[in-house]
Amino acid sequence: LFTPHRANAKGWDITHRPTLVDIDKGRDPFHAHRWTATPLSSSWHENSNSTASPMRNPAVPDDTVGQITFATPDDAKNAIAAATPWDLPAADRADVLRKVAVAFEDNAEELFAMLHREAGKTILDAVGEIREAVDFLYYYATEAETRNPTPRGIWTCISPWNFPLAIFTGQVSAALAAGNAVLAKPAEQTGLIAHRAVQLMIEAGVPTDVLHLLPGGGDIGAALTSDARINGVAFTGSTPTALKIRATMAENCDPGTPLIAETGGLNAMIVDSTALPEHAVRDILQSAFQSAGQRCSALRCLYVQEDVADKVIHMLKGAMNELRIGDPWHLTTDVGPVIDETARAGIQDHIDAARLDGRVLHALIAPDAGTFIAPTAIRVNGIGDLTREIFGPVLHIATYKSGDLDKIIADINATGYGLTFGLHTRIDDRVQQVVENIHAGNIYVNRNQIGAVVGSQPFGGEGLSGTGPKAGGPLYMPRFAVMMEVQPIP
Ligand code: NAD
Ligand code: ALA
Repeated sequence: LFTPHRANAKGWDITHRPTLVDIDKGRDPFHAHRWTATPLSSSWHENSNSTASPMRNPAVPDDTVGQITFATPDDAKNAIAAATPWDLPAADRADVLRKVAVAFEDNAEELFAMLHREAGKTILDAVGEIREAVDFLYYYATEAETRNPTPRGIWTCISPWNFPLAIFTGQVSAALAAGNAVLAKPAEQTGLIAHRAVQLMIEAGVPTDVLHLLPGGGDIGAALTSDARINGVAFTGSTPTALKIRATMAENCDPGTPLIAETGGLNAMIVDSTALPEHAVRDILQSAFQSAGQRCSALRCLYVQEDVADKVIHMLKGAMNELRIGDPWHLTTDVGPVIDETARAGIQDHIDAARLDGRVLHALIAPDAGTFIAPTAIRVNGIGDLTREIFGPVLHIATYKSGDLDKIIADINATGYGLTFGLHTRIDDRVQQVVENIHAGNIYVNRNQIGAVVGSQPFGGEGLSGTGPKAGGPLYMPRFAVMMEVQPIP
């Protein structure tokens, strides 16, 4: 059952409009559909002479989802030349964005099928993702209407594959809400979903000289961030790519050109001896393995106080055994595939190295076909053993003595990342002590640490995890506009 939020013009009083998503393949018109995507714009896309590349379902290798004609660096130059800020009052832009939200809801079944087949999303994740995209549209529409921002000019929006609809839509809708022209470059793995989203935006009234879609890889991203004509870059993706973009912009763009970078994390959770084990285990499981661990917010390193470690780890292994891994189409599937073979091989290398050292505490078995990784728990001494973000269903576990809490907090902060952090404890003073000292954008106490909610839990990191402002919060859309003082909305 799909129940997206539908906000009215005044804000967040929601009318739910349930839509039944038919998950019976035999009756679903989209289970065998093939989509095509091309660069999209009013003027320059006919010039693109790239050949189309097939896109495959990561869970079902012989399922061809469609094909994409990628943009060329020349397309990028032409798109920048053609890009025109949106000459419409903020309230009217807001109306168009709300129409886009309605179009997303009305086409939810198709978007749902695309999220499954192009991005390997489970039902739970696909439903949540469509809802988040719709929420972004309503939220930034209301923000624009209320704050009446002035556009900066041309924004490049570069997004990752792991939220191919929600993050793509969040960036693009905030830039549009502020009245900018937008050059949208989705991840190369998920260009079909982005293409469908842009088609729906255009059908709803976003002009084609304002919004330009450039499907492509790092070369197109580089072309769109190294041009002095752009007035801002919104990037979500890995920290190394953000650092490259920062260097490119420093060399090529006006020094005042803003970069919003939302990046990766080495996210930790601390479970102390007062935590309720059943509660903690459920939240660990969701935080580490939901979305096959392919969330920037996902738990990577769990610290369990040694007094309760045997019990918690024993229960965690039992709970892991109940996870179902496989085709995300099935209602009973908990863990779908990772995005592609490159990702699978990199994560598997990490697990294999741990296995050689005898550090694998527990591992499930993955299906043979498709790019699956079996959820795996690996023993580590501490977060310092993690040298990079392992973007998959791999949980690292360390134990600690109660007197070591300050040192653990210092170790977590010393990674330089600061995205999410989780704490399970029943001691109020400890909540205070830890929360005040941890450097992380989003801190979760006695709950899982994924799934921030637009409008009520703005999301973003600090340090190597992001520049801010947080997405889905009141400071985000104003960053796309000419400097404005942000007053709370009454
Ligand atoms: P990535 O950095 O490989 O790619 C992200 C985007 O950047 C893609 O569109 C890619 O084509 C583009 N790109 C690659 N090289 C580029 C270059 N030189 N110049 C400009 N653009 C370039 O990341 P990914 O694998 O797509 O996504 C996973 C990463 O994203 C993880 O690190 C995850 O933590 C992070 N992420 C962060 C957030 C957040 O809100 N903080 C949310 C989702 C994902
Ligand atoms: N916003 C996403 C989450 O909170 C990444 O899990």
